Amino acid sequence: MEQIVYLNGAYLPLSEAKVSVLDRGFLFGDGIYEVIPWYQGRFLGFNAHIERLQASLQAIHLELPYSAEQWYDLLSPLLDAQSSQYIYLQISRGYAPKRDHVFPASVQPTVFAMSNLIPPFLEREQGIKAVTFEDNRWALCNIKATSLLANVLLKQQAAEQNAAEAILIREGYVTEGSASNVFAVVDGLLMTAPKSSHILAGITREIILQLAQTHQISVSETAISVAQLAQATEVWVTSSTREIVPIIEINGQKVADGKAGSVWQILNGLYQSYKISAS
Ligand code: PDD
Repeated sequence: MEQIVYLNGAYLPLSEAKVSVLDRGFLFGDGIYEVIPWYQGRFLGFNAHIERLQASLQAIHLELPYSAEQWYDLLSPLLDAQSSQYIYLQISRGYAPKRDHVFPASVQPTVFAMSNLIPPFLEREQGIKAVTFEDNRWALCNIKATSLLANVLLKQQAAEQNAAEAILIREGYVTEGSASNVFAVVDGLLMTAPKSSHILAGITREIILQLAQTHQISVSETAISVAQLAQATEVWVTSSTREIVPIIEINGQKVADGKAGSVWQILNGLYQSYKISAS
């Protein structure tokens, strides 16, 4: 049976979901998105994802006054209770009859949502490789914008070097990954970059910070320098679809002994329990 998706008020087969080539999402990447995980009948961090969605909408001056309940009702028909899935929700500024950088006077946003399976991440225990690159993205990374060309180019460059993530460096400090946040354990302290317009404030990042604090794991929202990254005993990347993944090699150099570390073991255990207990 063909996948059912949501587009502008209708639930329809994927192949029938069509958007105009004049949609500003297509022409300008003028839109924002969210990725919300769902585990066996429950969203994880739903309200936090909706709050970030509202913040992204506000940041691009797009009004869409849906409450969290309305979003829940709109998205839940796309999910089933048995599997681990994520919602991809995208809102663009919509169709305008003429290509013009300036916002059109009146326009109906295009709202699209689909669900996809979260496949078991088999490499999690063994970890993945990463490479570092200069963070050459724009300075509004806090907006979850669909215009992801810089992220795409960086991740592709990593893939061409057989690495599963690009760790981005701005003025000597780690910002985040091309599609993830970055944590490191340095001298026994768990560190991640503070919230700013140079990172996306990940919901997984937030859950990890809270889990660490409630379980007396020393944690600090302090930028990780390139030197600290090189000395770190553990480095991880985090996101809603990949959860917490140990980085075991950076630029061809092993991180510590090249195995997932003990702080990761603890936090990953806490996260796995949290994700099935939290709604
Ligand atoms: N991306 N930073 C960037 C640049 C990201 O693209 C993502 C996630 C994150 C982590 O955010 P969260 O924990 O809320 O998923 C950080 C999603 C998964 C994506 O683009 O598919």
